[in-house]
Amino acid sequence: MNILAVAAECSPFAKIGGLADVVSALAKEWHGLGHSVRVVLPKYGNIDCQRWNIKPTSSVVAVPIGWWQEYTRLWRGVLPGTDVPVYFLESRDYFDRAGIYGDPDGYPDNDRRFLFLSRAALEIASSIDFVPDIIHAHDWHTAFALAFLKSHYRFHPRFARTAGVFTIHNIAFQGQSDPRRILPLANFPLDQFPGSWFEHDGAVNLMKTGIMFADKITTVSPTYAREIRWTSAGMGMQPYLNLRGADFLGVLNGADYTEWDPQTDPHIAAPYGIETLSDKDRNKAGLLEESVPPHDRTLEIPILGMVSRLTAQKGIDLLLGCIEQFVRTGRARFAILGSGEARYEHALHRLGRRYPTRVLVYTGYNASLSHHVIASSDFLVMPSLFEPCGLTQIYALRYGTVPIVRATGGLADTVEEYDPVTGTGTGFTFGEYSASAFARAIERALRYYRHPVHWNRIRTNGMRQDFSATKSAQQYLNVFRWALEKIGRNPNST
Ligand code: ADP
Ligand code: GLC
Repeated sequence: MNILAVAAECSPFAKIGGLADVVSALAKEWHGLGHSVRVVLPKYGNIDCQRWNIKPTSSVVAVPIGWWQEYTRLWRGVLPGTDVPVYFLESRDYFDRAGIYGDPDGYPDNDRRFLFLSRAALEIASSIDFVPDIIHAHDWHTAFALAFLKSHYRFHPRFARTAGVFTIHNIAFQGQSDPRRILPLANFPLDQFPGSWFEHDGAVNLMKTGIMFADKITTVSPTYAREIRWTSAGMGMQPYLNLRGADFLGVLNGADYTEWDPQTDPHIAAPYGIETLSDKDRNKAGLLEESVPPHDRTLEIPILGMVSRLTAQKGIDLLLGCIEQFVRTGRARFAILGSGEARYEHALHRLGRRYPTRVLVYTGYNASLSHHVIASSDFLVMPSLFEPCGLTQIYALRYGTVPIVRATGGLADTVEEYDPVTGTGTGFTFGEYSASAFARAIERALRYYRHPVHWNRIRTNGMRQDFSATKSAQQYLNVFRWALEKIGRNPNST
């Protein structure tokens, strides 16, 4: 199959969160399964072209915007360790900035920046000589590509037999825009806007646009698929998801275990596996050596790790609401790597100053440290308010780092409460969104930490789980085949 993936993030070039990991892992897997994959990404100002060997090509592509043309030079690289081509769109106007989205509030022209990406993704097909069977668009940023596919490019020789698939990574971000501004730029008539596939609450809503124009729609876990369809977690999109119900399903994210394997991970102090699990403590010792004075480095105290964007979604309020009851008495340490909202960064640093050997706080984005923290911690906490899938808990399982999670979205699909009677289960879960429910789950977890038989069982149960991207890549291929059938093609002929 020829697959054109279009996204705002792709690991390791441009990453804020799990979207980047998933785009990259899926592309690698499809390639490994013999499919032809191209990834299209903006050339953001902070992409390290030298490090990743990204080079300019001679192609400059004209992109229709409104009644004029804008231009992008194509740069080309490959996903490291593979020969999957990644095309980067150069644009001084749109992408040559330090940030990806311009957090925390977003760049004011994000609608236009991603409109450009979405249109250019189709326009570059001739230059890269690609006839896609599938356009796979991720999140609101690239939803316009599917609207274009079904309208302006419907009879285009390269796209007449192309199906469009839309994957929702987070329905909380919907991409709203003023129709008078964006529709003329996208060449859609303003007079047909009210009640159209673009419109939600009087604005252009790109989440709705993706849902309505795609042949098939997926989201990143089965539980989240149910939540956003039937509950307020859908944030207003429930009627559209219901309208498209027959074409909508959850495909659980998978991990790239070539990147996340404690036996081969180059970022961690000491490799280990199920058979050599005691070596995990050498990582813990390493982390303590780096951050705690010698007299307080005891390995006995459990470390609860967290690697996260610092936003309300991630349940940081619950963490702040109960952390002191565990560190004050020295029953636990926390190692937190995060970046995001200033109010959370400040609150965590305040705790770090108050309990310098018990609350270890690292702010900023640091890929290497994220591996180190996950390998060195005994537990990984994810008290998310909502979580479409979550990847860090999946990584933690492979590292024998026991997840303590709120059972929502993909967390509910990947972490099973430990049952001491049957010896099954991989972590600790709680339901109610409250600091006290979270604290009770931590209490339960700490009890088993002190019990070698159970402790060993929980960790090895987790390490044996297989949430590989290979599985999810195969499920996506099924979705792609259904999408091709939907547009009247024989999926076996690709
Ligand atoms: P989300 O996409 O909502 O942020 P996920 O759990 O799906 O949540 O993915 C988060 C990804 O981002 C993981 O790969 C995690 O290791 C990484 N990550 C989050 N915060 C940081 C950080 N401060 N430094 C490095 N990596 C981070
Ligand atoms: C989003 C979600 C996260 C998910 C990731 C990758 O950022 O918040 O739960 O794992 O996308 O799909």
